Order: sequence, then C-alpha cells, then structure tokens
Amino acid sequence: MSAYCWFDYATVILTGASSGIGKDLAIRLVKEHGCNVIGIARNVERLEGVKNELGALGHKFSYYSMDVSNKEGWENLKSELTEKGIKADILINNAGVLPKFDSFLHYTTEEIEKAMKINFYSAVYSMEVMMPYIMESERAGIINIASSAALCSLAGTSVYSASKAALKSFTDSIREEVRGKCYIGLFCPGFTKTSILREQGEVASGAQKVMDFISTDCDKMVDMIIKGMWQKKSNRVLGADAKMMCEGNKIAGAKFNFICSQVMRLSGVSLFKSIFED
Ligand SMILES: NC(=O)c1ccc[n+]([C@@H]2O[C@H](COP(=O)([O-])OP(=O)(O)OC[C@H]3O[C@@H](n4cnc5c(N)ncnc54)[C@H](OP(=O)(O)O)[C@@H]3O)[C@@H](O)[C@H]2O)c1
Repeated sequence: MSAYCWFDYATVILTGASSGIGKDLAIRLVKEHGCNVIGIARNVERLEGVKNELGALGHKFSYYSMDVSNKEGWENLKSELTEKGIKADILINNAGVLPKFDSFLHYTTEEIEKAMKINFYSAVYSMEVMMPYIMESERAGIINIASSAALCSLAGTSVYSASKAALKSFTDSIREEVRGKCYIGLFCPGFTKTSILREQGEVASGAQKVMDFISTDCDKMVDMIIKGMWQKKSNRVLGADAKMMCEGNKIAGAKFNFICSQVMRLSGVSLFKSIFED
C-alpha cells in the first residue's frame, strides 16, 4: 500500500465478483488495499476460484451466492451480516448483463425484464436494504457500475442502455440526498475485455477482433475505477470509446447516434446483423 487511501482495510460488499471487472476489483481491493471483500454472484465455483487465486489472502475474501435481482436475497444477506456482527463500509453494485445486440422487437418480455432486474432493480434493492447499514460507517461509500450506454444509446442496445440510464439517474439523485453522509460514485465504462459478450453466443466470436480492437483491457479498467474511487469522483466515463461516445452524443445528439448506427449497419459485423433485420 502506498499513500493513505480512504478505503484501505474497509469491508466491501461487491456484486459480480465471480468474473471480469468484479473479479479483478475484488483481487485488487484485497491485495493492494487490505480490504475484506464479500463477493456476490451466482456461480459458486467461480467465486471459490477467486478465493483460491488470492492464496494466503483468501481469508479476506468471503462470498455469498445469490441472484442480485432478488430483494429477499439482500434482506437475508443483511440479516446474516448483522447476526455475525459484520459491519460493511462500502457497497459496489457491479453485477450486470448485456443482452444480445438486437432489434427491440426481437426481445421477449422475459429478456427485457431480466436485464432491467439485474442491471437496475438489483441496485434499487441493494441500496434500499443496505444503505442505512452502510451509512453507519464513518467512511460509507456506494459505487454503481453503469456503462457508456447510459450516456449514448445506439441501435441494438435499447434495453441495456435503458437499464444503465435508469441506474445513472437513480444514482445521481441519491447522491444529493445523502451528500456529506455517504460517498456515491457512478462509473460508466466503455467496452472492456471480459466475458460479458457471452450472451451474444456464436456471433460474438466472429466479431472478437473488432471487439478486442475497441475494448479496454480489464486491468486498465479496474485501475481507472480504483483511481476514481480513491479520488471520490461522482461520475466518471472510463475508456477511449466511452469518452468518444459521450462527447459525440453531447455535441451532435441524435445525429451522432445516427452516424454510429449507420456504421454498425454497414460494417457487415455479424454481431450487429440481426439489429437491422425484420
Ligand atoms: N465489459 C464491458 O464491455 C462493459 C462495458 C460497460 C459496462 N460494463 C458493466 O460492468 C459490469 C461488470 O461487467 P463485466 O464486463 O465484468 O461482465 P462479466 O465478466 O460477465 O461479469 C458479470 C458479473 O455479474 C454477475 N452477475 C450477473 N447476473 C447476476 C445475477 N443475477 N446475480 C448475481 N450476480 C450476477 C456474474 O456472476 P454469476 O454469473 O456468477 O452470477 C459476474 O460475476 C456490468 O454491470 C456491466 O454492465 C461492462
């Protein structure tokens, strides 16, 4: 550990800790900041893998297998932590899913509701249940991981963008309600090299080169998130593609979305094909 950081040795509840950004964040918070991380995800094997990867520091990573979109799960977690006398300082809502890039009309109602529940309602429930408990800490913090899609909505991402835009608005409002009592951070990453494209199935593998080209390495993204947390940034757009989308949208509004969507339409990239099909 170098200079003093406000979350050194904190107890952190972190969702989506079994993979990608959440996994790397868990490992870095334990190794570099001495945090005790309570990792949340559904896949126990992958959560156990994170613990093993921490080796001698494995005791600083405990996990709780649950579906973050189930409010009862949050209530049970809070009861369990309270019973054990565990006080958490920070909550990071990172778990999320990226539905298949597709035309809105191709989604089923179940797919739409699933994305809204995991990407948005999970944070509503976790904050409803956990915020009073987190705010008992003198260094209370809640960090929500949204996406550049919350700031610039392209063809094929209607549901994902809406879920992340809802998360952004929700977070921005609550920040002002608890200002001075709890740090509220919102981070909007751009494309990052993780397994998030798994929902895209076979089509994604054909587009891997394109995605690799525009995506930020996961460790770099986690670096930026940790730096933003350290500096207690309110809102941060992370990654070159995210900044480009955000600025383009600010300057040119719907015209920018039109140009990007035309590029996607004409690119011939398999990942985007069904967006424009009837
Ligand atoms: N990668 C990108 O390009 C990118 C860009 C912008 C924003 N983001 C955001 O960054 C966050 C992390 O994404 P990632 O790229 O690291 O994705 P990832 O590698 O697919 O990891 C997603 C994590 O969320 C967990 N999760 C998903 N649904 C869950 C549920 N219902 N209950 C509990 N846990 C659940 C997964 O664990 P289990 O499967 O074990 O439950 C996994 O640990 C997401 O919110 C995503 O929207 C990612």
